Order: sequence, then C-alpha cells, then structure tokens
Amino acid sequence: METVLALKGAAYKYYDKITALDGVSLSIMQGQRFTVIGANGSGKSSLLQVLAGLIFPQTGDVLFKGVAFTEKSFRDKEFLRQFRTTVGYVFQDSDVQLFCPTIYDELVFGPLQMGMDEEEASVRAIEVMRMLNIEALRDRPSYMLSGGEKKKAAIGSILTMNPGVILLDEPTSGLDPRTQAFLVELLFALNDSGKTIVVSTHDLALVEELQGETCVLTESHTVERVAGADDILADEEMLLRVNLIHEHIHRHKDSKGIISHVHRHAHGD
Ligand SMILES: Nc1ncnc2c1ncn2[C@@H]1O[C@H](COP(=O)(O)OP(=O)(O)OP(=O)(O)O)[C@@H](O)[C@H]1O
Ligand SMILES: [Mg+2]
Repeated sequence: METVLALKGAAYKYYDKITALDGVSLSIMQGQRFTVIGANGSGKSSLLQVLAGLIFPQTGDVLFKGVAFTEKSFRDKEFLRQFRTTVGYVFQDSDVQLFCPTIYDELVFGPLQMGMDEEEASVRAIEVMRMLNIEALRDRPSYMLSGGEKKKAAIGSILTMNPGVILLDEPTSGLDPRTQAFLVELLFALNDSGKTIVVSTHDLALVEELQGETCVLTESHTVERVAGADDILADEEMLLRVNLIHEHIHRHKDSKGIISHVHRHAHGD
C-alpha cells in the first residue's frame, strides 16, 4: 500500500514559541481510516493543518506520496494542483470554512476554482447535496443554518472536489446522535469507495466506531503510541497518562470500614 501522507520528526511552534507538535512521526496509507486523538491543546488541529499543507513544520518533514514538501513547493503549479485536488480539509469550526452567499455557491466554489465548467460543477453540487440530504438548504446563507447543517455544508464543499484524502478535524463535535451516526456512515461509505479518511477527535466512542489506525498525542505534543483502535482503547494506563480518561475515587463504608473504589471514565461519560 502506498503512503499518501507522512510526518518525519515534525515540530511546529506558533510564532516560533508556542509548541504545538514536537517530533511527530507517522504514516498514513492510501485507503486507510486514520484517527488522531489527544486531550485539548495536544496538537490535533495543528497536526491536521500540517498534513493539509496549511502550516509547515519548522523542523522535520511532511511528505506527500513520499516527497517532502514545504511552503515553496506550492509555488509549483503542478504540485499545487495535485495536492489541492487530492487532499481536502474540513475545519474544526465550520464558520471558518463557509464564506459564500449560499450553500450552493459554497459547493460549486472548489470545482470552479479547479477550472471545472459550471454545468459539471452544478451536477457535482447537486449530487453531494443529495448524498448529505441538504438539498433544501441550497439557497440559504450559512448564517441561517444550524451547527449540524453547517458541518454538512462544510463537508459538502470538500466532497464536490472529490479528494482522495479527506482530513476532518473533530467532525462529530456538537452534532446530535443521529447526525453523528449519519456522519460515521458517510465516512465508511467514502472509505469503501477508496478514499483515505483522517479524523481527529477526543471522543473515544468515535475511535471505537471508526476502527482505524490510531495515533495518540500527549499533552507535551509528542506521539505516545500508534496502533489499531482496539489496542489503543485497551491501554487504560496510557489513556490516563495522556488525559483522555480520568479516574474518580468513590469512598464508602462497609462492615470492614472505609472502602475506596476507583472508576475510570472517558471524558463526557
Ligand atoms: N493560532 C494559534 N496561535 C498560537 N497558539 C496556538 C494557535 N492554535 C493553537 N495553538 C496552541 O498550540 C497547541 C496545540 O493546539 P491545537 O489547536 O493543535 O490542539 P488541539 O489538540 O486541536 O486542541 P482542541 O482539542 O482544543 O481542539 C496548544 O497549546 C494551543 O494553545
Ligand atoms: Mg483542535
């Protein structure tokens, strides 16, 4: 299997002083489901933005199909076209992504930018609106949508570009259970059609559902472990260490005196 995106010892600091990633190495294979997990501030969004070519590591490398790239690589029109048509990125905050007058405009924007003619772009937009069940929102501006509807529109604006790799930053946060289930189904359908799916989350239930290769980030912005979802979820000591589960100590009395029980919870339980 081909490695589509990889990091080798990548470190990133905002303003050259706030560390977001520290010596991160990982490989994402073509067609894989890949999950990045970590506590708040561990570097998940930064990691996805490095993979999306939006920010660039100051040390170490980020590679696309085995070739290291930098900000300069995007001055090459052919590289720019290949990368941007292959890798799609769905922001954690949909408001950052949606800027067109209507949802329809949002969905045709990418294809038109790529030089597709209007008729073809329109066919794609209609197809994607149907897939996401957002046809009724077609002529609405994004500020007239609910959070979940915005998320679908933001995902739609990436799907119309038909990228082979889709990076989604906390795609299920703020969605109701039915919409979350819809999204998980959608991610599986996209993955079944051959797309590489990379998801960041701190929701361990989502990690279990996706059953992807899972990379755990620590609060010091390093990689703790990369393994299959079940191995990661079974490693409670490690999940405690990286602050993805926490312990509650309950004390109560029985005939022998005070007894303490330790219960472990995922955040949100
Ligand atoms: N625009 C920014 N400017 C400065 N520092 C930032 C910026 N964005 C993130 N950081 C810092 O970089 C580190 C990693 O942040 P990042 O947003 O990647 O974490 P995250 O794992 O996505 O967190 P969350 O779960 O809260 O979304 C944090 O210490 C954060 O404070
Ligand atoms: Mg984030």
